[in-house]
Amino acid sequence: MTGSSRPGDFDAVRKSVIDLLKQPEYDDGSAGPVLVRLAWHSAGTYDAETDTGGSNGAGMRYESEGGDPANAGLQHARLFLEPVKRQHPWITYADLWTLAGVTAIQAMGGPEIPWFPGRTDYVDDSKLPPRGRLPDAAQGSDHIRHIFYRMGFNDREIVALSGAHNLGRCHTANSGFEGKWVNNPTRFSNQYFRLLISEEWKEKTLPDSGIVQFAAVDPITEEELMMLPTDMALIHDQEFLQWVKVYAQDKNLFFEDFAKVFSKLMELGITRDAQGKITNSDNEKGGYIS
Ligand code: HEM
Repeated sequence: MTGSSRPGDFDAVRKSVIDLLKQPEYDDGSAGPVLVRLAWHSAGTYDAETDTGGSNGAGMRYESEGGDPANAGLQHARLFLEPVKRQHPWITYADLWTLAGVTAIQAMGGPEIPWFPGRTDYVDDSKLPPRGRLPDAAQGSDHIRHIFYRMGFNDREIVALSGAHNLGRCHTANSGFEGKWVNNPTRFSNQYFRLLISEEWKEKTLPDSGIVQFAAVDPITEEELMMLPTDMALIHDQEFLQWVKVYAQDKNLFFEDFAKVFSKLMELGITRDAQGKITNSDNEKGGYIS
């Protein structure tokens, strides 16, 4: 592992994150996908109307948010990052989790995502997000819109963000769903969109739990791949479908849109001055020590 760093040296933190990505004993051999999910779930609690939730504060360290069943499995991601926090103790958890997400995406072949520092680990109890703000994979397009419009995203942005399901897998122990979306789940690409429209997805009920997901056999590897009900909603809803088709055909546009929208996700609930300094009132109570 690379050495310690001076406060504010985010490139050193990025290097430490890259060093830990390879995890031969874990899942498909990489910590990358679960780090991306940690970054997304840390931010995806945002509610624009009440200006609560979001990545600032790293509230998932505490039971009320960390113990939300929607966050099951993300303890692995937080544990992977502990040595990085020990090595660079000046960085806040809120910055570390979001920086690890964007670093992992790029290291797995994805786009470079604009990322800005300065989040605090101060948690204002009155701004803690209630449980139930993250999406439920068993639902359809109305639910998806309800969740993502609440954060301030439009249909095009929702589809672009969903392209993160190129990465990683579902685990029975975490969500009840099982399997991966693409045959190379540690390489960022637009394959998820291509498979959504090219394969014939058949409903499949998991024998032990009765949970319903969708299955198809990968034409190249002959492995079984999966889609969640919410993934299928992207091809059953005509507004979503047009963007699925665009991204399936145009990888560069997908990468460009994904970079913008993931960056926006990481910034939800954060206000900055012209110099980029966070101006949220509770940020005075602790940021990184520069
Ligand atoms: C994994 C649901 C949107 C990134 C998962 C899992 C579920 C899920 C059920 C499996 C978790 C497990 O069993 O370990 C959803 C739903 C979404 C959504 C319902 C919206 C309708 C997103 C977005 C991103 C994302 C917006 C990022 C931009 C990921 C990643 C994984 C994952 C990277 C793999 C994690 C791993 O391999 O451990 N998602 N997700 N998801 N999700 Fe999503």
